[in-house]
Amino acid sequence: MDAAPVKIVAIDGPAAAGKGTLARRLAAELGLPYLDTGLLYRAVGRRVLDAGADPADPTAATAAAQGLTAADLDRPDLRTPETAAASSVVAAIPAVRAALLDFQRRFGAAGGAVLDGRDIGSVIFPDAPVKLFVTASPAARARRRWLELTAGGTAVDLATVEQDMAARDARDASRDAAPMRPAADAVVIDTTELDAESVFALALRTVRDRLG
Ligand code: C5P
Repeated sequence: MDAAPVKIVAIDGPAAAGKGTLARRLAAELGLPYLDTGLLYRAVGRRVLDAGADPADPTAATAAAQGLTAADLDRPDLRTPETAAASSVVAAIPAVRAALLDFQRRFGAAGGAVLDGRDIGSVIFPDAPVKLFVTASPAARARRRWLELTAGGTAVDLATVEQDMAARDARDASRDAAPMRPAADAVVIDTTELDAESVFALALRTVRDRLG
């Protein structure tokens, strides 16, 4: 008899599409732990910047990924635009991705988990029973991120946020190592015209269908 599939809910998609909000709510609803995998790449990018190194330097970025500690993930400066840009540069380096792979798999392997990122359904858990790809128009996503940043006290204009996000999305989608793209069996949810409540209801229906 086959063992029951591990309850992995893989949520991928571009920046500020609503993945994090959705993932947290689904995790609470399902009683599963939640991992924001973007934080791992942000923490690596931050460590490289703090060392005064170039995020595109594979040696510096790989050392930062291999030396990552839990405390690095608690830093208050992981959400800044500078860290976001560095995170997507280090994320294109295959050895950085390799250094973070086991941690992500172990996090979900035992009792299941909700994970969000760019490659959860395509690379980290290709056999996940639930795969969602959450997206929205670039304008809607830039506006959401701009509202978050300004509410948090970061003075930045909307056009800059939109440009930075477009550059990051382009890097994430065009890299050779685990590019951002929906897995073939992912359900795509476009949140441009939806509020968080509707996104949650839609996603929960898919989760219940797939997990039984
Ligand atoms: O999700 P978040 O915007 O915090 O991710 C920051 C960056 O980390 C992304 O732009 C992407 O380059 C990288 N990332 C990734 N794979 C993941 C999660 C994040 O490459 N699973």
